[in-house]
Amino acid sequence: HERTNSMGINLANDDELRGLAAAIAAGDTDWTAAPLVPGASSTASWIDVTDPADRRRTVGRWQPADEATVQRAVTNAVAAQPAWNATPAASRAAILEHAADLMEQRMPRFIAMCTREAGKTVVDGVAEVREAVDFLRYYAGEARRQFALDTLPGPTGESNTLQLEGRGVFVCISPWNFPLAIFAGQVAAALAAGNSVLAKPAEQTNLVAHAAVKLLHEAGVPEAVLQLVPGDGASVGAALTSDPRVAGVAFTGSTATARAINRALAGRDAAIGVLIAETGGQNALIADSSSLPEQVVKDAIGSAFTSAGQRCSAARVLFVQEDIADKVIDMLAGAMAELVVGDPGELATDVGPVIDSDALCLLEEHAREMAGARLIAEAPLPAAAAHGTFFAPRAWEIDSIGRLERENFGPALHVVRWKADQLDAVVDAINATGFGLTLGIHSRIDETVERIVGRAKVGNIYVNRNQIGAVVGVQPFGGQGLSGTGPKAGGPHYLPRFATEKTVTINT
Ligand code: NAD
Ligand code: ALA
Repeated sequence: HERTNSMGINLANDDELRGLAAAIAAGDTDWTAAPLVPGASSTASWIDVTDPADRRRTVGRWQPADEATVQRAVTNAVAAQPAWNATPAASRAAILEHAADLMEQRMPRFIAMCTREAGKTVVDGVAEVREAVDFLRYYAGEARRQFALDTLPGPTGESNTLQLEGRGVFVCISPWNFPLAIFAGQVAAALAAGNSVLAKPAEQTNLVAHAAVKLLHEAGVPEAVLQLVPGDGASVGAALTSDPRVAGVAFTGSTATARAINRALAGRDAAIGVLIAETGGQNALIADSSSLPEQVVKDAIGSAFTSAGQRCSAARVLFVQEDIADKVIDMLAGAMAELVVGDPGELATDVGPVIDSDALCLLEEHAREMAGARLIAEAPLPAAAAHGTFFAPRAWEIDSIGRLERENFGPALHVVRWKADQLDAVVDAINATGFGLTLGIHSRIDETVERIVGRAKVGNIYVNRNQIGAVVGVQPFGGQGLSGTGPKAGGPHYLPRFATEKTVTINT
């Protein structure tokens, strides 16, 4: 089983593009998402889902799980796990690979859902589905490889084997910013390892998650082994993570929520639960005077404003060496004036809406807090943006990264100048934020790159390129410190965290 990454859609091919455009246009149809829990039917009221690019447009509706449905889901998951765990890892892998093939065939529909429910641009939507497909295939391949029985050397007269097994019931809690990729990645890993799964997607993106779970069922995952348990974090998420029958939680989202889940797991009168948490960042890009200003600006723009800056990996602070700072700042302002902000369903759009009005309020609050800083640029908003939740991409010059009190999750970039003798101080200031997710470096001096790489406490470093879009199996992704517990998603150490190890010694 040679693994290759998904090819996605060729946006230069007219036929493929027409199919995609039709799926996006048809996206105004009534998508629905109710709990997928055998034997339960929620009585909670349905909630409308509106398009982030135009709040007048309803694209679907979803229904939260009520308390009885949550309880039933856990009971089902406990009952279903042993048989799934006893299914050979290669058979579980084959089901996930079948799901990957189905998802690839239905790419236009999934892209359309990402666009209309989550405000993803078409290009982001293609990347999103490719990443989801990659996760399904990658963890399937890792299950085949790592779950094979390992025979260990020992004294004559004994046979020793080590095998991996599922831990039990896993809760997968995902964010809205990768509504398909992270959702499918967590679920695929937990399933591949032999766990039954309770999937709780973000409140904002239940429709795409529901479609993914239905597809996995179609591919052969039993309905009680993978259940969709939608609801808000404070009620449904908290109920799931505090249930003593749950063996572990895979979580991606904010650092504050990861802490709450950690407390919930620790507070149970039960076996110690495993927590895999991938959280936020305060990501920097350091450019020295040997770097190419054109490339710095291109990569800063790509890293800060792709996906409307709603990536945990996004660049938030550009540290630029004094000698080239004026030139870089001028070019940055020029490039930002050309950004096309608007309907993410249009191919020409660079920056779509932010996810909801709460996110917009936080960004507007940040803009007010930046009032004393020099505004380098503000990209223009089209008139139609008034109907959606849009924040005009902005860049400010500030004097220190310490000025930023939180992760500003949107298209907001900050520029800090530094002098030649301050390189170590710059890296120390980045480390002092406590976050450690991505770091960009632009330099043509090997010693400088090595120095920064050695000193920085971050999970993913990118040199002379942008710092987003880690590729599954190629750039394992995840941070340290406030940015997460590890292990890295899309890397070889991820799957074993979802498993227990069993050593069997037989006196022959
Ligand atoms: P969030 O923490 O608000 O929500 C994430 C999920 O947690 C949602 O499903 C939510 O319902 C659930 N939740 C909330 N409170 C809960 C509780 N008490 N118990 C259980 N579940 C609860 O985060 P968000 O706003 O949806 O996502 C954005 C955040 O995610 C940013 O901080 C971003 O950096 C981070 N993120 C990190 C990565 C990574 O790989 N490191 C990737 C994507 C996003
Ligand atoms: N894995 C995503 C990226 O690298 C978050 O941008």
